Amino acid sequence: MTEGRKRLAILGSTGSIGEQTLEMVRAHPDRLEVVALAAGGNARRLAEQAREFEVDLLALADETAATGASMPRGSLLTGAEGVCDLVRDSGADLVIGAISGVAGLRPLLVALEAGIDCALANKEPLVAAGPIVTDAARQSGAQLLPIDSEISAIFQCLRGERASEVERVLLTASGGPFSRLSAEELAEVTAERALDHPTWKMGRKVTIDSATRANKGFEVFEVHWMFGVDVRHIEVVVHHQSIIHSLVQFHDGAVMAQMGPPDMRMPIQFAIFYPDRVANELPRMSLPEIGQLTFAEPDMQRFPCLRLAFAAARAGRSYPSVLNAADEVAVEAFLNGRIGFMQIPELIERALEEHQAIDVDSLGDVEEADAWARRYVSGLI
Ligand SMILES: NC(=O)c1ccc[n+]([C@@H]2O[C@H](COP(=O)([O-])OP(=O)(O)OC[C@H]3O[C@@H](n4cnc5c(N)ncnc54)[C@H](OP(=O)(O)O)[C@@H]3O)[C@@H](O)[C@H]2O)c1
Repeated sequence: MTEGRKRLAILGSTGSIGEQTLEMVRAHPDRLEVVALAAGGNARRLAEQAREFEVDLLALADETAATGASMPRGSLLTGAEGVCDLVRDSGADLVIGAISGVAGLRPLLVALEAGIDCALANKEPLVAAGPIVTDAARQSGAQLLPIDSEISAIFQCLRGERASEVERVLLTASGGPFSRLSAEELAEVTAERALDHPTWKMGRKVTIDSATRANKGFEVFEVHWMFGVDVRHIEVVVHHQSIIHSLVQFHDGAVMAQMGPPDMRMPIQFAIFYPDRVANELPRMSLPEIGQLTFAEPDMQRFPCLRLAFAAARAGRSYPSVLNAADEVAVEAFLNGRIGFMQIPELIERALEEHQAIDVDSLGDVEEADAWARRYVSGLI
């Protein structure tokens, strides 16, 4: 083991963000070391990663997939508890939160409570449990660093600036594959078509969330909880080229934008090495090749998930936990061909309307609202 290398625990190592994080480790072996890897059910890929990166501390959340799985080295922890134990035992300097869904919440809290800095791609914990997550970080002093490209852009625009001088934050949205479809055409969209995102190659859930624009709504929560920006001061602008990753406007009217090629490895690298900017071989941006950058207002009629996310963010209490859980259940049902594309926002809206909100003071409160929403939406399906 080389002295001074940053020790990473990667949660969700077999997914899109997890694999791209490992690419960063391959590119910077003198500066980075992997000490723990956790995944959902892909035992084969986890074993390959353990072998390549010589990792002994491994976990699979899916107990069925873990049964009979053999790892080339070390110990395999299993189940949701196993993932939390892995974080606790890792001795990591930085946890990479790249699990999909609210399943990433408990391991994230374990890391933050242990005072371990976390680089977060996994946005659902901040949607479902923003106050709980930020409290845990505040209490231990652990840092929460964004990986999501838009949130990283805002983080970079705020470097050296005062949060109190921010007038508004503009989140850019690629528009997804269906920005030009009519409401009737949207109703006919299949899972297969929705999984074909034009700009980013991502996991299945976040790809569907991007197509419905629930994902953009989730980013509103990320901005709010990571930087303390009031939801009333967060806006969304459609920007098809995905070159400007987001913007911050200050009280004097100055606007800072962060630009770059649409490549997740850049924000991943920025989070890993923060506050250093480390030289790399990643593709560079050419403005003449891009030619034009375009912007448009988001259409909240055709894409109600964005409107619902803003509404839940403004309403607070347990509404955000319900928004998140209802979305997870609805997206899963859409992927399994059980509901249509436009039923995703319909189900979320019904759950938000029917929910009897509670105050969210603990993880138990989040879990109660989450469980209610899952039961309610599953019942409707
Ligand atoms: N992909 C992107 O470009 C992108 C950009 C910004 C933000 N994000 C966010 O980053 C997160 C991950 O996205 P992704 O695209 O990388 O998703 P993904 O490709 O579906 O990967 C998800 C990862 O989480 C693992 N996993 C699932 N359930 C788990 C559990 N209960 N415990 C431990 N691991 C579990 C999966 O393991 P198995 O495959 O082994 O089941 C996989 O490694 C999401 O919250 C997404 O919104 C992604």
